[in-house]
Amino acid sequence: MSDKTIVLGVTGGIAAFKAAALASLLVKKGMTVKTVMTKAATEFITPLTFQALTKQPVYTDVFAEHDPTHISHIDLADHADAIVIAPATADFIAKVAHGMGDDMLTTILLAARCPVIIAPSMNVHMYANPLVQKNIATLREIGYEIAEPGEGLLACGYEGKGRLMEPADLVFYVERALMPKPLRGKNVLVTAGGTKERIDPVRYLTNDSTGTMGVDLARVAWLMGAQVTLVAANISVPVGPGIDVIPALSAVAMYEQVHTRLPEADIVIMAAAVADYRPREVADLKIKKTGADLSIDLVQNPDILASLQGKYKQGAFSIGFAAETHDIEHYALEKLHRKGVDLLVVNNVLESGAGFGYGTNRVDLYDREGFVESLPLASKFDVARMIIERTIARIGVL
Ligand code: CTP
Repeated sequence: MSDKTIVLGVTGGIAAFKAAALASLLVKKGMTVKTVMTKAATEFITPLTFQALTKQPVYTDVFAEHDPTHISHIDLADHADAIVIAPATADFIAKVAHGMGDDMLTTILLAARCPVIIAPSMNVHMYANPLVQKNIATLREIGYEIAEPGEGLLACGYEGKGRLMEPADLVFYVERALMPKPLRGKNVLVTAGGTKERIDPVRYLTNDSTGTMGVDLARVAWLMGAQVTLVAANISVPVGPGIDVIPALSAVAMYEQVHTRLPEADIVIMAAAVADYRPREVADLKIKKTGADLSIDLVQNPDILASLQGKYKQGAFSIGFAAETHDIEHYALEKLHRKGVDLLVVNNVLESGAGFGYGTNRVDLYDREGFVESLPLASKFDVARMIIERTIARIGVL
């Protein structure tokens, strides 16, 4: 991302102050950020703020040409790798939807050929207004990405949809705009997190999984253009935008959700740590101590991954995970064949820096022929990227 130039368009809404955080996050990613502000935006935040954060000139006036050899709005449009408008007001969206070019930012958009992200922010009723929705639909039709506002308390005092997408989430949209999209048109189904198997209303059996590996796999697939559904058990990391999250806390709930979505899935990645057993009975009321020992009778959970065999969409690619400590190749291949997956990602949980609770992972890949590759120790995000890249190479969409 370090050689990329982003035009950050700021229009006149109260969320304009959040654009400063976005500018800062993009700069931290190594991107060159050129800020362009509408006149109304300068009523909310000063150009100097962006100049100081980005170390770049800030553009506010289409007629202020400082270099006679260049026409600034064309130059900015030509050199932008992506344009993100945050916040985008109803007025600005209307202007763009009608092809107007009466200031620096609108003229840049008219001249631009790079990906454009529009992040609307306004009062809940303004956002719901059919005219605004019609204009947003027009922008979608011409290929602009709409970073939908979130719901919550708005500056006007109302509660509802209209909050600018969080700057950290907008960074994902910018990164996505800059990446090739080999998975465009593909549905990717990912499971993540440790299941919770209820004992009574206040207790459950679970494991140490944080869900990071599965969330990162979902994130990478989304960045590469896929439509991603994340069936999530207990996860303790933020998922970020753009991913359809389906909560499924127990193994049985996950079994149902995965089977429901399986017919659409082109790639299935089962990264969840599914409990192998659940209590035979779930107490309706809290179990009280009696002074005597207590045994909990456990029954086996369905093996979700194994149960998918013969039910995949034609040509779908499946990935399973395994945690092993010894005889790794032997157990890996036995598991791969028993569960009928195309690729098995194996953690040696005795290795340091691998598995639950670490930010990093070290995995080996196996396919039906046997050992394929050892991936280097890397952040879980980079391991996810390597796994998705290997998958793309195998399904031949590159
Ligand atoms: N899995 C599943 N349903 C289960 C258990 C596991 O779908 N009830 C999936 C996991 O999401 C993972 C793979 O199967 O993709 C892991 O299989 P598992 O047999 O649990 O492997 P290990 O965790 O390595 O455990 P063990 O060696 O005890 O079998």
